[in-house]
Amino acid sequence: MTKPLLDVFAGKAPSVPPIWLMRQAGRYLPEYRALRTKASGFLNFCYTPDLAVEATLQPIRRFGFDAAILFSDILVVPDALGQKVWFEDGEGPRLEPVTDMAGLSALKPSIDLEHLAPVFETIRRVRGELSANVTFLGFCGAPWTVATYMIAGRGVKDQVPARLAAYQERAFFSALIERIIEASIDYLSAQLENGVDAVQIFDSWAGILPPNEFERWAIEPVKRIVAGVRQRHPQARIIGFPRGAGSFYRDYAEVMDVDAVGLDWAVDPAWAAREVQGLKPVQGNLDPLALVAGGDALNRAVDRILAAFSGKPFIFNLGHGIVPQTPIAHVEQMLKRIRG
Ligand code: CP3
Repeated sequence: MTKPLLDVFAGKAPSVPPIWLMRQAGRYLPEYRALRTKASGFLNFCYTPDLAVEATLQPIRRFGFDAAILFSDILVVPDALGQKVWFEDGEGPRLEPVTDMAGLSALKPSIDLEHLAPVFETIRRVRGELSANVTFLGFCGAPWTVATYMIAGRGVKDQVPARLAAYQERAFFSALIERIIEASIDYLSAQLENGVDAVQIFDSWAGILPPNEFERWAIEPVKRIVAGVRQRHPQARIIGFPRGAGSFYRDYAEVMDVDAVGLDWAVDPAWAAREVQGLKPVQGNLDPLALVAGGDALNRAVDRILAAFSGKPFIFNLGHGIVPQTPIAHVEQMLKRIRG
């Protein structure tokens, strides 16, 4: 049996596109909320294979998506570099900020893959559970996005601390990005060795970079990761997701050696079908709030995306993660609209 999602990377365009949703395991699912109570702390949840395997499989069982995405978080990379990382319930991630060379020197020189052994166990166990037509995705954060959290110590509006550091503390910032690049190559390679079919690189904050900085911090480091992973795994399948890249989506698709480009919801499907899909398979880009809204608004948004991208290589997804208030009935409505 073939995997429809991998077929898209190979240039095929099945009449019904493969579909999965970013953050498809999460709080909108009652079974996820029940599972979540069994772990103290979100990182513990990610590092407990019994729970992480189950969280990965929950959305596949319920909806029959074409891809399962490893249940983990992009911030396990700073954690495995020795930075203090924790999650405040209902608030999000917290890190002890790394803001200068001294802070960087206090981290491990390279990622401690031993620390991430539970993640690799999760991958091996999920691999054994998935049916042959489901693609298994691993992931990491792009260096720029991971650096924004490492420097600010939390999610902050407009990522002011990281943007300032990139201008003012260039030597430190370059060295930090370098450390994350190497860690990400090691981490994604290990995910592939343990059994994921493909990986996605999430650059959630790419869109706040001005032009020159976009090239320097959203393109170059990801290029290095892609090249580094391909050096070890020439057959690796890689999705790049530079959220908010706007008109730079075209440049990204042109220069990045990825197998597909993830589009956020602000991108006009008609524009992207012309300018991006001609260069690379695309993935996206339903507004997560159209999924919250449901009804005609959802149907219209789905139809518009299908009309633009069908007939050429395309993976249906949201333009960013599913939000907790999403009704399950609306996910079912969307699937019915796409699959008939
Ligand atoms: O997609 C999936 O289902 C797989 C798991 C996954 C999670 N985080 C689980 C998670 C993935 C792929 C991520 C990626 C991630 N994590 C990103 C990039 C994608 C994006 O959303 O922009 C970022 C920036 C993070 C960092 C992060 N983790 C934040 C900012 C938060 C808090 C916001 C929130 O939704 O609570 C998290 C926590 C987190 N990661 C949750 C989940 C399911 C919620 C934690 C909980 O259950 O309490």
